[in-house]
Amino acid sequence: MPVPVNIFEFEPLARVNVEATAWDYISGGAEDEITLRENRAAFERTFLRPRYLVDISERDLSTTVLGTKIPFPLMLCPAGYQKLAHPEGECETARGASAVGIPMHLSTVATRTLEDVARVATCPLWYQLYMMNDKGINEWLVRRAERSGYRAIVFTVDAMVTGNRERDKRNELSFAALHVENLITRTDDAPDKIISATHYHELPWQENLSWRDVEWLRQRTSLPVVVKGLLTAEDALLAAEHGAAGIVVSNHGGRQLDGAPATLDVLPEIADAVGSKMEIYLDGGVRRGADILKAVALGARAVCIGRPYLWGLAADGARGVQRVIEILRAEFDMAMALTGRRNVAELDRSVIWKPGK
Ligand SMILES: Cc1cc2nc3c(=O)[nH]c(=O)nc-3n(C[C@H](O)[C@H](O)[C@H](O)COP(=O)(O)O)c2cc1C
Repeated sequence: MPVPVNIFEFEPLARVNVEATAWDYISGGAEDEITLRENRAAFERTFLRPRYLVDISERDLSTTVLGTKIPFPLMLCPAGYQKLAHPEGECETARGASAVGIPMHLSTVATRTLEDVARVATCPLWYQLYMMNDKGINEWLVRRAERSGYRAIVFTVDAMVTGNRERDKRNELSFAALHVENLITRTDDAPDKIISATHYHELPWQENLSWRDVEWLRQRTSLPVVVKGLLTAEDALLAAEHGAAGIVVSNHGGRQLDGAPATLDVLPEIADAVGSKMEIYLDGGVRRGADILKAVALGARAVCIGRPYLWGLAADGARGVQRVIEILRAEFDMAMALTGRRNVAELDRSVIWKPGK
C-alpha cells in the first residue's frame, strides 16, 4: 500500500475495498450535494494571520471535552454501518482511536454492540442516540451506555427523517447482510419489542421530536447530553436553556438538508450566542490540521471527523484510523507553530484573516 501523506490520499485506497453502493452511501450527500461541497469550501476560503518571532518551541496541543483531557481537539463522529468499511466494524475504529486516545462517538445504528466496542476501547466513548418512538428502547440504550462506561449521550436531532440521498435511491441501497446490533435484544432487561432491522428506513424513528425530548433525556441520565445537528444561534440558545452540556454544529456531513450552510460559516454566530454557556463542537469537511485550528479559533472546543476515518478504516483497519488521526495531529501541530500559537488557549479570532463568509 502506498503511504498516504495526507488524509485525502486514504480515499482512493479505501474505495477499492468497499462495494460501489456502500461507497456511495459513505461519500454521498443529499440532493445536489451543495451543502456537502460547501462544508469543505468554507474551510478553503478561510485564511490565517500568522504571527512570527514567537517562541513556539514548546507546544501543548491538548484540551478537554466535558472535563476529559484529550491529546488535541479532535473526536470521531458517529457513523453507522461501519462493517461496510471493515469486517470488524466499529470495534476496529475503536482500536484505532484508542491507539491515539481520541474520543469516539458510537452510532445507534452501529454494526457492533455498544458493549463490544466498550470492551476493546481504551479511548473515551460517547454514545450517539437516535430516538425511537418507543421510549422504553431509548431508555434501555441509555442505561446500557451508562453501564458500559460511555461518558456522554450525543442526541442527534437533524435526522428525524432521512435526507434525500439520491445516490442511495438510485442504488436501491439496502444493507441486507448487516444488523443494527444495538437494537437486537439479547438481555433480560430488554423491552418487549425485538428489533432487528437491517436498514434505517425500517427502524421505528421518532418523527415528532421536540425540545421536550432533550428534557426527557436529561431527566433519565446522569451523563451529559450533547445535542448534535444544530446550525443556528436560536437553536443553540434553546439547547442551553434545556440543559445541554454541549452541541455539535453539524449538517450531518451534507447528508440531510441540502442548502443548509457550511458549519464553519455559522460557527461564529453560535459561539457568540452560547460560547460561554456550553461546549461547542463542529463537524463537516474537516480534512486538514489547519481546519481544526480555524474551527477552534472561531469558537469550537473540538472538531469531529466522519468520512476521513472511514477511509482510514476501509484502507487499513485500525492502523488506517490511527494514521488518519496522527496525520491530522501533525498538521495541526505544524499549523499552530506556523501561526505562532503555543496552545489552544491562544487560538482566538485574531488568527483568522477573513471570517468564512
Ligand atoms: C457513512 C456515514 C454515516 C453516518 N451515520 C451517522 C449516524 O449514525 N449518526 C449521526 O449522528 N451522524 C451520522 N453521520 C454524520 C456524521 O456524524 C457527521 O456529522 C459527518 O460525517 C461529518 O462530516 P464529514 O464526513 O465531512 O467529516 C454519518 C456520516 C456518514 C458519512
